[in-house]
Amino acid sequence: MPIRSILAGCGGYLPARIVTNDELARTVDTSDEWIRERTGIRERHFAAPHETAAFMGTAAARAALADAGATPDDVDCIILATTTPDQAFPATALRVQAALGVTRGFGFDLAAACAGFIYGLSVADGMIRTGQCKGALVIGSEVYSRILNWQDRGTCVLFGDGAGAVFLRGSTDADAETRGVLSTHIHAQGTLGDILYVDGAVGQPDKPGHLVMNGREVFRHAVTRLAEAVDEALAANGMTHQDVDWLVPHQANSRIITAMGRKLHLPPERVVVTVDRHANTSAASVPLALAEARADGRIRNGDLVVLEALGGGLTWGSALVRL
Ligand code: COA
Repeated sequence: MPIRSILAGCGGYLPARIVTNDELARTVDTSDEWIRERTGIRERHFAAPHETAAFMGTAAARAALADAGATPDDVDCIILATTTPDQAFPATALRVQAALGVTRGFGFDLAAACAGFIYGLSVADGMIRTGQCKGALVIGSEVYSRILNWQDRGTCVLFGDGAGAVFLRGSTDADAETRGVLSTHIHAQGTLGDILYVDGAVGQPDKPGHLVMNGREVFRHAVTRLAEAVDEALAANGMTHQDVDWLVPHQANSRIITAMGRKLHLPPERVVVTVDRHANTSAASVPLALAEARADGRIRNGDLVVLEALGGGLTWGSALVRL
């Protein structure tokens, strides 16, 4: 019996501080109306100084383990997707490993911007299927509030902070063949690196870096690439849109989310939306949305879920998962 990655648990963490559009409009030349109309965003969470990617990732990982009925002893792989790590090294994944009390296995960070969670899911699934690990935490954790340019109203209103995590368990049970991560599909196009990037990093002299984006170009590519990635996932499994129960999309913009829901012929109530309350939390957005819809009972065992995301790189991808 081949090994499959069962999505055993989900969890999320959001900083306590909520910042509304009106609050932002006190210091940025913008308005609640503009932000809501163009993006669907009403508010976002911003991290306090102690809420780093490791801190929030640990909290989300604990919640995912609890949801799975698992303990740190069940974890032998931690992949943490972030572009806002606590330190250049050690990997934020290993700060999480230590905080959880995991004493074996391995862990590393993965930088694929907003597509980071889909990339992490793909890598973890491959490792489980080939027997390199049995219990994998895949975490997305981001503090974009620390890399935003507050002079650029075209970007600083779009992002928020938070973390989401899933716990994957390798299984050879008879029913595992039809459950878990059915397939993942990841892509990148480095030639589009200049439409969404951070203009610095610890390796650059005196340049911590701020986010820079050509919003229109990103929008254009997002609609095309994500539609392709969704088609690819369905085709790889011999399925059509009629088989899909839920879309859990990257939460960047409600207009892109609506377009993807239409593409899958899903009614709005079958598309999980958090962008209104979380804004874009980059690598954390998909697992946070998944955790919310699992916790409130919307997504149930047996449901077929499409995940998709696109981010700076350009990176993008999709996954088909049966809970
Ligand atoms: N408040 C008020 N006005 C704003 C503003 C803000 N926060 N940001 C930009 N504007 C203004 C611009 O200055 C411009 O004014 P002008 O016409 O007088 O020059 C006008 O609004 C239109 O700007 P534009 O950038 O063309 O808007 P848009 O319709 O493309 O919407 C985005 C901007 C960012 C919402 C949209 O492009 C988008 O969502 N792109 C995708 C972003 C994304 O998904 N990124 C993450 C991927 S991981």
